[in-house]
Amino acid sequence: MTRFIPPADFPNTRLRRNRRDEFSRRLVRENRLSTDDLIYPVFVREGEKVQEQVGSMPGVMRYSPDELMRVAEQCLELGIPVLSLFPSIDPSLKTPDGSEAANPSGLIPRVVGMLKQQFPELGVLTDVALDPYTSHGQDGILDNDGHILNEETVAMLIRQAQTQAQAGVDIVAPSDMMDGRIGSIRAALDKDQFIHTRTMAYSAKYASAFYGPFRDAVGSAANLGRSNKNTYQMDPANRNEALREVAADIREGADMVMVKPGLPYLDILRDVKDAFGMPTYAYQVSGEYAMIKAAAQNGWLDHDKVMMESLLAFKRAGGDGILTYFAIEAAKLMREQNC
Ligand code: PBG
Repeated sequence: MTRFIPPADFPNTRLRRNRRDEFSRRLVRENRLSTDDLIYPVFVREGEKVQEQVGSMPGVMRYSPDELMRVAEQCLELGIPVLSLFPSIDPSLKTPDGSEAANPSGLIPRVVGMLKQQFPELGVLTDVALDPYTSHGQDGILDNDGHILNEETVAMLIRQAQTQAQAGVDIVAPSDMMDGRIGSIRAALDKDQFIHTRTMAYSAKYASAFYGPFRDAVGSAANLGRSNKNTYQMDPANRNEALREVAADIREGADMVMVKPGLPYLDILRDVKDAFGMPTYAYQVSGEYAMIKAAAQNGWLDHDKVMMESLLAFKRAGGDGILTYFAIEAAKLMREQNC
């Protein structure tokens, strides 16, 4: 913990002295971003040789599996440790209970298998949640009044996580915000001998309007319509509750925890890191990415500088890593600047 030493009075202390030259700015720099900190979220769809632009996320594509392999190769080559997969599935496969999520020959398990076969050293993370698979776009199973059923949903999430583990995924990341899901998934994985499959819990996940472009990307926006996720995702007004969520996930066996969204929730990231000292990740979500891209496209912000400043902010706030759609661009820039 930092002990604050009040500076001697001016002119004995001049804080500008260390800032005067690049060498001393480098010497006193407190936080650094590295390619090791990056997790790259990607959207995958069926087909061959398809790269389909996501309208609200300039530069982000939905890739067919063959094209995704090229992206994976690029991640490996750049030194990005982990790829995070999100499916955009055919609407005809969506059902009220989202059972396609647990289909062993579904899109995600197939892509996981291909990735682990072709690039065994690249980490693969899969999202555990039903929203890309439900006809109503919610993350869980509904009762007759439209309320999300907790235990029934967890039962399906267990099947989804087991299917992903069976396919060889390295990290399962439940993003659904049901109560008790981390412990239930951990127990089910252990029972099947998947003791090495890690869990990254979306622990403090807020009911945020910054997810809008993502819902376009996975095709859940139209299904969700005007309804919201307020009965399971957290209220943006709450801070203490985030610590309770994280504490519960740690007790249930989470290996890594996450705060989401990113920049608007840096206070929560700092709280979580300080309170638990866990490997702690931030998700710079689709809306944050879209804002920066849109402003840069208009010439209102310097794209690369704002991208790097936003990523560094997560490190300063205590994050161990960042899920970011900028991962490839940031890794390329860091490589250029280091040589
Ligand atoms: C699914 C999920 C969402 C995101 C990641 N996993 C959307 C949501 O909860 O509605 C959002 C990611 C982003 O906006 O980039 N449960």
